[in-house]
This record gives sequence, C-alpha cells and structure tokens, in this order.
Amino acid sequence: MKLLIDDAHIDLIKNIYRYYPIDGVTTNPTILAKGGRAPFEVLKEIREFIGEEAELHVQAVAGTTEGMIEDAHKIQSELGKNTFVKIPSIPTGFKAMQILKGEEANITATAIYTPMQAYLAAKSGADYVAPYINRIDNMGFNGIQVAKEIQDIFRSNGYETQILAASFKNSQQVLELCQYGIGASTVAPDVIEAFVKNVAIDSAVAAFVKDFEELCGEGKTMANL
Ligand code: E4P
Repeated sequence: MKLLIDDAHIDLIKNIYRYYPIDGVTTNPTILAKGGRAPFEVLKEIREFIGEEAELHVQAVAGTTEGMIEDAHKIQSELGKNTFVKIPSIPTGFKAMQILKGEEANITATAIYTPMQAYLAAKSGADYVAPYINRIDNMGFNGIQVAKEIQDIFRSNGYETQILAASFKNSQQVLELCQYGIGASTVAPDVIEAFVKNVAIDSAVAAFVKDFEELCGEGKTMANL
C-alpha cells in the first residue's frame, strides 16, 4: 500500500519524509486554507521538495465541468503534467474526468462517500478514488467497509482504478485497509507519527541500549568498540 502525506505544511512534510518511506503528498482546499499562503507558492515548494517523480494530488475548485478542466490545466502547467488532479465526484466532475482522461491526465476522484460514486468515477477514467473513511464513520456508516466494497467492485469488474483512502483519525483504520490490499492511503502527519507511538516499543529499545552500555560503557555503540 502506498503511503502519502495529507497536509501542505512544508516543515511537517519534511519531518515525515526524514524518517518514513513516503510516496507523495495530497492536499485539498481546506488544507491549503489552513496554511493561509498563496496556493501555488506552497504547492511549488512541495513539488520541489518531493521531486518530479513523487505523487502530488491537487484539487480543482470550480463547480462546472469547464471550470474543473481549466483548473486542471492550470494545476498541470504550474506543477507538472504528472500531478494528479483531484476532481469532486459529482455530476459535473464525472464529465470533467471523462474529458481529462481523453487528455491522459492523472485523475483522483475525490469526496467519495459511496461505492456508487466510486463505480462512476472508475468508469469515467479516474486513476484513483478517494473514499473519506473517518467522515463516513462520523455519518454513522462504516468507512472501512465502504472502502472494502469499492475494492471488491473494482476487482470483480477488472477496473484498474486504485483506491486512495483518505480522512483517517487513527492508525488502526490505516492498518485495516493495508490488510485488505488497498492501493494507497493518505494520512495526516500526526496520525503517521502515531503508527509507532507506543511505550512498549520505546521501552524495549531503551532496555537494549542500557544493557549494551552496562557491557561496554556509557555512550558506546557497535561503531566505536
Ligand atoms: C483527501 O482527499 C481529503 O481531502 C482529506 O483526506 C479529508 O480529510 P479530513 O476528513 O481529515 O478533512
């Protein structure tokens, strides 16, 4: 399963990249608004840091099909043709996906709450569909189950569209989708850090260091024996 960062704060992105094997970055208009900076300034900074090959997903904001296509062209011209354009999975969006697919654009169908939206997005040519796990849970449904149903639909119909699961609040949600072979998850930096935030792990590692130092002396490691 690919792992992406769902944030636009460059320092947080750099900190996660420093330690973890990350495949790219996703943003949305709300994430960009939180930063309060000019969108393309921030997005270019991210693109420069992650490199040309890494996945960057950026959302079209217009509501009409024509507007979404114009947004997509602007996103590609500023950030590279390989950037994934996130298109909301609404009627105007499905039409925009079909047209953009004809141009061989990379498309992420976003704002997915139901398997029916995912099915229509896959048929419209989306490369990824992004179900919102935690937001679905908050509506009283089961986000993990929705993602699994989407995966089953894609497998039984032979669609190549992948799932880019989004909107996570804890590591267990991510792990459950990993177990099911979901293609990718995009996760906020604090939730990624929580993957290994565990006193048992810290205490096991601290005990190894203590035992070694008792044997060889304070501050000693294998390298300086
Ligand atoms: C990704 O496509 C979504 O924009 C994002 O993950 C939503 O996350 P949230 O529910 O935490 O805002």
